[in-house]
Amino acid sequence: MSQEQLRPVRVGLLGIGTVGSGTFTVLKRNQEEIRRRAGRGIEITMVADLNVELARKVVGDAAQVVSDARQVIANPDVDVVVELIGGYGVAKALVLEAIAAGKHVVTANKALLAVHGTEIFAAARAKGVIVAFEAAVAGGIPIIKALREGLTANQIQWVAGIINGTTNFILSEMRDKGLDFDVVLKEAQRLGYAEADPTFDIEGVDAAHKATLLSAIAFGIPVQFDKAHVEGITQLSATDIKYAEQLGYRIKLLGIARRRMDVKTPHGVGGIELRTHPTLVPMRRLIANVEGAMNAVLVQGDAVGTTMYYGKGAGSEPTASAVVADLVDIARLLDAAPEARVPYLAFQPDEMSTLPILPLDEVVTSFYLRLRVADKAGVLAKITGILAEQGISIDAVIQREADEVSGEGNQTDLIILTHDTTEGGMNKAIAAMQALPTVLAPIVRVRKEELA
Ligand code: NDP
Ligand code: HSE
Repeated sequence: MSQEQLRPVRVGLLGIGTVGSGTFTVLKRNQEEIRRRAGRGIEITMVADLNVELARKVVGDAAQVVSDARQVIANPDVDVVVELIGGYGVAKALVLEAIAAGKHVVTANKALLAVHGTEIFAAARAKGVIVAFEAAVAGGIPIIKALREGLTANQIQWVAGIINGTTNFILSEMRDKGLDFDVVLKEAQRLGYAEADPTFDIEGVDAAHKATLLSAIAFGIPVQFDKAHVEGITQLSATDIKYAEQLGYRIKLLGIARRRMDVKTPHGVGGIELRTHPTLVPMRRLIANVEGAMNAVLVQGDAVGTTMYYGKGAGSEPTASAVVADLVDIARLLDAAPEARVPYLAFQPDEMSTLPILPLDEVVTSFYLRLRVADKAGVLAKITGILAEQGISIDAVIQREADEVSGEGNQTDLIILTHDTTEGGMNKAIAAMQALPTVLAPIVRVRKEELA
């Protein structure tokens, strides 16, 4: 059959909010270019949204608009269902129903896949349908494609990224413009970057969802969000951002997945670190200079070395760019055998690794510590002694000038940068230091990565 004769792929869109409306706009604006790439047209023929009136304003008479998503799934003329509603509840039911109905699925829903991915991919495999999710990680950056296809020669050693636009936007604006956290968060919501529940952004949950997906496709392990370590930026203080700058570092919220073969667990040798937390990154690294809602992902492979992927990580059209790319992939594969497809998680489903996610105590990083101490002789010696007892080597120590006088006498901030150590060792050292009468406030710790 010649390509001209192939009928267009018919798409049913569930949810026409920020990403859904971008998807509709991009497909419409670039339809001819997209047809030439896909080898057939891609048309949104049916849209479901709770706000039917608003949806009609977006699509005009180009597609049928309904309020009940199940009508779209049940429509025999719909080949592909695009889920852009979000969340774990109704979205999960709809995605599973679409799969059961034999529809291919495209979703931007990282929360859904990070938590329920194993069930969803198994259901899709059983039905022989595609579940594509490029938009779920880092918005418009084709990082899923890079990992699943471009880097297949490599043993991936680690992946580390700024994968939440909202928090990067907040950290950048607070630092550059001195704006308050709440003001910048509102602006991120206005610009369509934030999740429906922005605590997912600021508490690190969204980045951890994405890191979970990256860990699965980098190492061929199942998605295990429940084992990820998750910390957001709400506990980060302006003081530490400032001290980090003075020491030549930026603080970024990073999602990190690292393969470690130097540890033994009850499962055998090796494991995967899976963690999201604020991180000091040397200012000279490109990734430290990724600002605003931009995202960047570093991938280290044994053959390729370190590669970096940079672009808009959130927003209507950047995210739509990834959704439409998935639709083009499906259009190209619609009549192909299932074996021709790239596996959901980059590795053949029967070849998944059993490497466990390591407990946080086993994670190895260097640290920034800030201690509020009494400015007295011997204080530093006691603290460095405790670190030495735990085998923690010090990289740098800075003692600020005494800046406050209280009943305890002069007080000051002591900043310590350490070399690599385990989280478990650092926990013990912090507990011992905290017990010293000369340590006057809770010790602040921020993990540090060289990313070299
Ligand atoms: P929005 O809230 O802007 O859009 C969701 C849309 O779905 C709304 O129009 C909503 O209607 C509609 N909706 C809710 N429930 C139903 C339902 N049961 N049936 C039909 N429609 C429904 O979200 P986004 O577009 O921002 O996000 C969509 C997905 O994309 C999420 O999974 C998100 O995590 C992900 N994503 C978002 C990015 C972004 O930059 N915004 C980037 C990457 C991924 P109503 O408003 O009336 O409730
Ligand atoms: N809320 C997400 C972010 C949207 O800020 O990065 C993109 O996934």
